[in-house]
Amino acid sequence: MGLLDKLLGKSAHTVTARPSGVSFEVRANQSILEAALAQGIAFPHSCTVGTCGSCKCRLKSGRIREITNFGYVLSAAELQGDVILACQAAPKTDLELEVAGLASKRLHPAGDFTGRITAQDALTPDIRRVTLRLDRPLHFDAGQYVQLAVPEVFGARAYSLAIPPHADGCGEIALFIRHVPGGAFTDLLFDGRLDDVELRVHGPSGNFWLRESRAPMLCVAGGSGLAPLLSLLEDAAARDVGRPCVVLFGARTQADLYAQDAIAAVGERWNGAFSFVPVLSDEPASSDWAGARGLVTAHIAASFTAFTAPDAEAYLCGPPPMIDAAEPVLRELGIAAENTHCDRFLDGSHGLARQELG
Ligand code: FES
Repeated sequence: MGLLDKLLGKSAHTVTARPSGVSFEVRANQSILEAALAQGIAFPHSCTVGTCGSCKCRLKSGRIREITNFGYVLSAAELQGDVILACQAAPKTDLELEVAGLASKRLHPAGDFTGRITAQDALTPDIRRVTLRLDRPLHFDAGQYVQLAVPEVFGARAYSLAIPPHADGCGEIALFIRHVPGGAFTDLLFDGRLDDVELRVHGPSGNFWLRESRAPMLCVAGGSGLAPLLSLLEDAAARDVGRPCVVLFGARTQADLYAQDAIAAVGERWNGAFSFVPVLSDEPASSDWAGARGLVTAHIAASFTAFTAPDAEAYLCGPPPMIDAAEPVLRELGIAAENTHCDRFLDGSHGLARQELG
């Protein structure tokens, strides 16, 4: 705790995570998750706003204050079993928590930046590549996201970084943003009314980063979910990770396919087997499309069977129905739940945590 906090009578508490033994300080005005991320600790999380359940952990000792009611997200059994949401809990005492999946990896600490839009390039009829210049370089791990906000105009919207990280940080970042007609943020953005506006940028956040392994990897993206996977794949290609890789991308029609050149470039640089399977769900039967059709999840098994291995990993990014449909297929292929990493773009019914949908 800093001297100023002490003089002001503020208190900090120590949180110790088991079984990793990682411990960190949480200040009086912070949630457990916020403090962990500010200190670069890879605490499991996704939405950061109490809707996804990714930050669930068990309170082994100590007392907490609920910032918002856990009852909306946790089951009765979980509540009785002392499960809490780290993003919606503040310590009242020192705590001991049981946190499954807390990796030893150190993430770049999250912070507040300002940014201005410098370019908007159409990728599809409703998705743009939006470039922002930041007030200082952002350090992040490939696959993470940032939150954009203009206080008093609209609250935080989360978008994955669509570029690979750089050792010196990135003073310019790019995001893939889908227009949601009637959406407070994307209507302003697509109208060009945010082009001269200072945006508040917070990040990096998210646990969707590539785990160290030589095992085969399966990547599945839907819609604008290609952004974090492209970041992750470009970074992995540059680092020469040397793992067999299969990428599936689900879109509606040929007009909704984008970043195909970038993925082809990754495939050319990739050290090892690499295949890319675009799948279209609503392409007219009479069109010249000769590729895969239907739901992207229906093509996972046939695309990845040759690479199945006990330690194979899956990276999924897109809408929850796509991820929910993929999970049983992955289990059939022998890809363990702990080796499955998901970045769900939640919709309004889940509390509008990632992206903007209406
Ligand atoms: Fe806490 Fe989503 S990160 S509920």
